[in-house]
Amino acid sequence: MKTAVIYRSHHGTTEKVATMIQQALGSENCMLFNLKTSKNIDLSAFDRIIIGGSIHAGNIQNKIKEFCKNNQDLLLEKPLGLFLSCMEEDKAQEQFDNAYPEPLRKHALSCKLTGGEFNFDRMNFIEKMLIRKISGINDSVSKINNDKIQELVAEMSD
Ligand SMILES: Cc1cc2nc3c(=O)[nH]c(=O)nc-3n(C[C@H](O)[C@H](O)[C@H](O)COP(=O)(O)O)c2cc1C
Repeated sequence: MKTAVIYRSHHGTTEKVATMIQQALGSENCMLFNLKTSKNIDLSAFDRIIIGGSIHAGNIQNKIKEFCKNNQDLLLEKPLGLFLSCMEEDKAQEQFDNAYPEPLRKHALSCKLTGGEFNFDRMNFIEKMLIRKISGINDSVSKINNDKIQELVAEMSD
């Protein structure tokens, strides 16, 4: 089974999660595509697709939204997994529901909130100020949820 993990990541969390999924599925059968650089991905070459993005100021990356919109018909024909990185746990489900179109959420074999990180080393000055003000957090913190990643991998393989 060939799997494509298609993602977008600002500060590296979603990329880490994508890599953890790839390791769990076996790297020989799983390819990663970062939508920052990957264009015209041939989805027909893959048996299953996993898509992941992250939330900034309430929204998932536009590249993920565009990808889902432009490829919806094809995505509805294949086993699909969706995941999301974010840090506001109380808003996480609502943010997920706004991030991915309903037809894809309903079709997906697995939908997971895989946690998030604040990576201060990779934030710019304004981002650091914003995060300090909103969350009261001053240092890098990782809350990647490995259990949810393993659940996603298991549900995709059922
Ligand atoms: C400027 C900024 C804004 C953020 N806004 C939100 C938000 O609105 N809701 C939320 O749950 N998490 C928010 N986060 C947390 C990110 O979703 C989290 O850092 C995530 O791990 C980023 O993943 P990435 O590095 O793959 O982009 C924000 C983080 C930053 C730096």
